[in-house]
Amino acid sequence: MAGVPSSLKGRSFTRLADWSREELETLLELADELKAERAHRQELRVLPGRTIGLIFHKPSTRTRVAFEVGIAELGGMALFLPAAELQLARGESYRDTAVVLSRLLSALMIRTFEQDEVEQFAQHATIPVINGLTDHAHPLQALADAMTLRERFGSLTGLKLAYLGDGNNVCHSLMRLAGRFGMRFVAATPRGYEPDPTVVAAAAADAATAGGAVETTGDPRAAVRGAHAVYTDVWTSMGQEDTAEQRRRALEPFRVDASLLGEAADGAVAMHCLPAHVGEEISADVLYGPRCLAWEQAENRLHTQKALMALVIR
Ligand code: CP
Ligand code: NVA
Repeated sequence: MAGVPSSLKGRSFTRLADWSREELETLLELADELKAERAHRQELRVLPGRTIGLIFHKPSTRTRVAFEVGIAELGGMALFLPAAELQLARGESYRDTAVVLSRLLSALMIRTFEQDEVEQFAQHATIPVINGLTDHAHPLQALADAMTLRERFGSLTGLKLAYLGDGNNVCHSLMRLAGRFGMRFVAATPRGYEPDPTVVAAAAADAATAGGAVETTGDPRAAVRGAHAVYTDVWTSMGQEDTAEQRRRALEPFRVDASLLGEAADGAVAMHCLPAHVGEEISADVLYGPRCLAWEQAENRLHTQKALMALVIR
């Protein structure tokens, strides 16, 4: 394969908004190459002797395994760091932790609650800091989703993507991605579960520049009309368990089922970042049906995370 470009070395990935469309395209092209090479059992060993720390304040299956496998395939070593076992849990500051870990590691991934915690790490670290999910954003998921949509439709520009459900972290990052690539994005959410209006405004401004559109609505059927992809995520995100019952009541009309998918464009696909709550935000026939890309999205977490690490780690 062609060499890995060096222009992104040292960059953090805390928010999708910090990366230009060209930079994201570079990453997606590398991810495609890595996927093809892996199928031939060829590995790109660009991380020999590098150790990457993975701090988790919340559970994870895909993010953790994609990192651990991806780091091994790139020739590096992964260090799983459950947050409760770090001095962070006893009050050591993000600043001190970031400075110390910068002397020991080559990159650091953090999955946590506040977006500001990831930004503080990035501000004080001298190694790349990667956002592995916060309450506000899930930019790694958006990378895998972009790769999956490109595989299916060839290009992102002009595609209509409808997001149904809670206006959460996954919705925010997807919206920023859609804006960057000039997609037509609409988020359909019930009142009280709308995405952050500042994210909507920024994504809409991006979309206008790129020839697309970003909108919100309260009408799930109107949102999916003509959509090429219909995306949903859990109604109760990690940390929101106390409000699960009221969420189920409010979000019920936003379930992605066969009838709703039938309103979308011919050949439309269903997407889900997983884990899914089958029968809540998505019906079993859609999740396990032939039009669902959730399993491709999950695999593409590996290829996109490998591409990101190959690009940013020195
Ligand atoms: N989609 C996703 O981030 O999955 P995990 O929570 O299992 O990492
Ligand atoms: N919105 C979900 C995504 C899980 C990958 C959560 O934050 O729990």
